[in-house]
Amino acid sequence: DSHLSPSVAKELIETAQALVGPRGRGIYATDESVELIGTLLSVGEDSEDQEKLFSESEKLERRKAWRKDAYEVLSSEHVSGVILYPETLLDFKLGTMLSDKGIIVGVRANGELAPLPSSPFEFIVQGLDDLLTKLQAARAAGARFSKWRAPIACTSAALELPSQVSLDIQAETLATFAAISQQAGLVPVVEPDVEFSADADLARSVDIHEKIIGKIYSRCKEHGVLLEGSIIKPSYPQPGLKHPSRQTTTPKDIALATASVISRSVPSAVAGVVFLSGGLPSTVAISYLSAVNALVNSSPPNSPFSRLPPLTFSYGRAIQGKALQHWARGEKDLMKATLQEACRACWKAARGE
Ligand code: 13P
Repeated sequence: DSHLSPSVAKELIETAQALVGPRGRGIYATDESVELIGTLLSVGEDSEDQEKLFSESEKLERRKAWRKDAYEVLSSEHVSGVILYPETLLDFKLGTMLSDKGIIVGVRANGELAPLPSSPFEFIVQGLDDLLTKLQAARAAGARFSKWRAPIACTSAALELPSQVSLDIQAETLATFAAISQQAGLVPVVEPDVEFSADADLARSVDIHEKIIGKIYSRCKEHGVLLEGSIIKPSYPQPGLKHPSRQTTTPKDIALATASVISRSVPSAVAGVVFLSGGLPSTVAISYLSAVNALVNSSPPNSPFSRLPPLTFSYGRAIQGKALQHWARGEKDLMKATLQEACRACWKAARGE
């Protein structure tokens, strides 16, 4: 019942599959805002002060140089796609550097956050108004997929977040985005980012993941989204940083919770699952990915886990965190080796190794 033409549908499906295979390949997310990347690229401990050493035009040149240096070392053996900030795609025109070596170009589609009036700790994601035109321009510049991140608060049941209204609005917005993205010929990567900064335990995090993901697919159905030409980018369900069980939860616990959430709430038609790292230390994000894939590998053929779509990465910080620090200190060779090693480690983890 898709409203897409057969040729557009076919291309979306092929692109979505190429983003999550052959097994092990995944996405490198480089779509930080101009402000954030500026802070990350500044030298030294006191980044705010150091940043003042650069003029606006120097900052722009540094952003461009960093992106170039990073993209130069990527290999399509480990990285299937890269998510670009619109400036990188449209102004720096760095997309062809990636597509020339067989890496699929993506673009960040979501705009900035605005407060949700009824709930001071939750947000509306802006950017739907002119989305079709923007995504059509991104496609003309070489993009073949797009990503929309929606933050979902997650506290213990006693503190009552996320609110019902935020779950409803994020699900509706993500499904609307997915439909518009496909209309523009781009595979949508739907990103419900359930936060782990609060006091939820693992069971509560699992529950919130299942609620939001279930709602997203119920809205996707209404919007006529072609699931086979779409990808989901969820967080790993996990205890919040303020819950005591955080210290005793193992990658195996996370793997079981994650596989259960995916198997219960992501329709099997969806092309694949790419996890965000969410600021977890690189080694931790990699251990979760490896554990969940090892669980899938060891599941008997009649287990629901053996029928899950590909589970791989769409990491930002967990891939480039250390490399960025080397770059900021002018250590180019170390930066390149570190970035390549991080991509290879993610690839291995996505194979369950
Ligand atoms: P992290 O892996 O750093 O969370 O970034 C992924 C991303 O794209 C967040 O929107």
